[in-house]
Amino acid sequence: MSTELISYDLQGVLLPEHGLTADDLPSLASQLDSARDEVLADSKLWAAGGAVSAEKQPLDAGFHELPERLLAEYREQGAKSEVGRILATADELAAAVDRVVVLGIGGSYMGARALMEACCHPYHNELPRAARGDRPRISYEGNNVDNGAMQGLFDLLANETDCGWAINVISKSGGTLETASAFRILLAKLRDACGGDADQLAARVVPVTGTSGKLFDLATALGCREIFPVPDGVGGRFSVLSAVGLLPAAIMGLDIVQLLEGAAAMNEHFRTAKVGENVVLDYTGVCHLMEEKRGCDVRLLSTWGKRLEAVGLWYDQLLSESLGKQERGAMPLTVVNTRDLHSRGQQHQEGKRDKIITNVIIAECQSEAIAVGTSDFNQDGLNELADKTLPDILTAATRGTNQAYREDARPTADLLLPRLDEHVLGQMFQMLMLATVVEGRLIGINPYGQPGVEAYKKNMNAILRG
Ligand code: PA5
Repeated sequence: MSTELISYDLQGVLLPEHGLTADDLPSLASQLDSARDEVLADSKLWAAGGAVSAEKQPLDAGFHELPERLLAEYREQGAKSEVGRILATADELAAAVDRVVVLGIGGSYMGARALMEACCHPYHNELPRAARGDRPRISYEGNNVDNGAMQGLFDLLANETDCGWAINVISKSGGTLETASAFRILLAKLRDACGGDADQLAARVVPVTGTSGKLFDLATALGCREIFPVPDGVGGRFSVLSAVGLLPAAIMGLDIVQLLEGAAAMNEHFRTAKVGENVVLDYTGVCHLMEEKRGCDVRLLSTWGKRLEAVGLWYDQLLSESLGKQERGAMPLTVVNTRDLHSRGQQHQEGKRDKIITNVIIAECQSEAIAVGTSDFNQDGLNELADKTLPDILTAATRGTNQAYREDARPTADLLLPRLDEHVLGQMFQMLMLATVVEGRLIGINPYGQPGVEAYKKNMNAILRG
């Protein structure tokens, strides 16, 4: 697998009227360097278990060096390490069942879905088992409260004979009602499917949770063979490179070592590259400057390819929950092109000048290019384009859209992904998590914790139990 890094091109932001000048980013360099130093110091402080000052609480900096820690442990301890145990559990599950239901919400769900959409076959669940690399189908629940969706899942599970399905339940707190209630409901179904066999039931449930709490206690009572941890100091939306994302990814058959290697490579780049050559600092700096100088507080992640949509939704959560505090924080919005050029495109071309657009472009088409082809029925006039392929059309759409934005002084930057694979995804997750915490330090908002999410939970529980 190639280890080429993601790059960032800000040329489309350097616009005379509505963008930045060539001096803007260099003039922010010392502030960006200080924010990076603070993030690096946070990470060291957290790892050393040092005292955290009141204004830094909570400090969930444990995500930062997690990839290096997991990789080192895997190299030293092999099968006994956490990565080794994740791989073994995923293989056992894959051999035993044809469907795994992943239960989780927010940070305990969005990373797994992003990985599946980006890296698995686009029709993974519809393929026959051999074409899925002998891996199970994956279904998601516990990420909402939707009776019809749950009933629909029951219908699917009814087709899995001989207890041919399993549950991977993920909740750091172990007390999130959406996930907990889905787990209770599906556990009862699974128990029936296993004919009440407690050993089989225990083998069919793999939890990922904190080191204590309701889910931990329940999993212990069930006798689950493995309970994978969400490490202390790793917040939900920063947990994709812990067992939270790694276990489902391994169940799907993805290369989780490459995922971690990609993230570690991004860490090294972040630590060492200077402003102007540092994808994390440059992306953060441009987004920040566009907000401060041009009032662009809508961050559009414009993905070119269907497979990146769930990565974008993962990022929407990361940015919203991390910086949407104290009546501040930019508004993230993910679009998928060319699909959304036919829905939101009008507004992005001619609407309010409140957006900084970051294109996410995959450089290499990894599947065989499909040509339009000639036809006897040329009423559509497409014989003229017979030799053009779908990647040719996508490239023309990308270039044409950016040209149109530029002609109207609509600022765009490009995030260039060399390919779409585990190494690049690991880089991208880490890049966006680092960018989010750097920006938090830059603007004085603690990127960790999500006190605002608690309000609805408190009210919902009071209504239900009152
Ligand atoms: O980022 C976060 O911390 C949240 O989105 C959580 O991941 C989400 O609320 C789910 O929490 P839990 O894993 O405790 O069930």
